[in-house]
Amino acid sequence: MIKIKSEELNKLSWEDFYSTPLKDKLKFFEKDGQLFDCLFSEQFSKPLLERIFETASRILSIAKSKGGMDWLQTLLSHKRAMLYFVQPSTRTFVSFQSACYILGLKVSDIRSTSTSSELKGESPEDTIRTFSSYADLIVMRHFQEGMAEKSAYLLNHTKRPVRIINGGSGKDQHPTQALLDMYTLFLSFADRGGIDNKTIMMVGDLKRGRTVRSLTFLLKNYKNVKLIYVAPEYLKIGDDIKAFLKKNKMPFVESDNLVKNLKLADAVYMTRIQDEYDINNESKDIDYSKFHLKKEMLVNLKKNAIIMHPLPRRAEIDIEIDNDPRAMYWRQERNGMWVRAALMAYMFGKDTEILKFANQ
Ligand code: CP
Repeated sequence: MIKIKSEELNKLSWEDFYSTPLKDKLKFFEKDGQLFDCLFSEQFSKPLLERIFETASRILSIAKSKGGMDWLQTLLSHKRAMLYFVQPSTRTFVSFQSACYILGLKVSDIRSTSTSSELKGESPEDTIRTFSSYADLIVMRHFQEGMAEKSAYLLNHTKRPVRIINGGSGKDQHPTQALLDMYTLFLSFADRGGIDNKTIMMVGDLKRGRTVRSLTFLLKNYKNVKLIYVAPEYLKIGDDIKAFLKKNKMPFVESDNLVKNLKLADAVYMTRIQDEYDINNESKDIDYSKFHLKKEMLVNLKKNAIIMHPLPRRAEIDIEIDNDPRAMYWRQERNGMWVRAALMAYMFGKDTEILKFANQ
């Protein structure tokens, strides 16, 4: 196998770089042996994941006291973050904003191309470059697949290569959602042997849901995790994900029967239909009600299983389930703030201080 050297990667045009296999270009997004840009789930090893989870738990614990919170806010008070979210978001945006406040980062934001100079014809590339004049970190959500990677490629070729975090890129990836999903699994199974050997069932629009893609990539870091993908025919998980599972010897099955599979799951990961990606209104012909979790179905679910959802939800989970002890989705979204703070602390080299502080 021919390995591409860093100097050669640096010389590639964007088109050639984009088509380079991911494993050959991951180094391009690292500096001094750690992540500089966070763009893909495939960038996380098990030791790195667990370092971020430990940091997240320590931040949560330190932030409980005023003295602890005051100290956390000194860590990155000399840094500025740009939140560039031009695709709708509630929790990713607010949890990143809150995580910035926890670490003392100063925050600016743009939430629509209709309020930026893109409305006047400025390209997304020039927009990103402009942010790098003012910020030390860009967290971005974009409707276009590959835009976060392109932004990192572009800035890493300039004299002001500021860090990029992908907060969701089209149908492609949502790596920080996967981080918080994994953190939720990690905490939930901490006294049950961890994530190894668990069965995770993902339900719904698996074709266009970027969270299920990114979560599948991260689950590779654990042993003998079994996956059950439950989806309508048209919304089945993509062939690229199936190829990834086979390559990594991760056992999986596909089904369209939610009830039949429920009893097997240690975690049920529900998702909404992603009809914003419809081309010809095709979602209206899909009976998605068969992929809704209803209260009466819970008799089939293990007593210690957990129910997850990246949110927002429509009708995929009955609201009567919200008070079931297995419902984990509200805690899951709160976990997002702590894990995103931990990720930023790691990327700015502050996680060791946090871990030491908690040990005092
Ligand atoms: N899970 C998630 O990405 O939620 P938002 O779209 O509200 O950010």
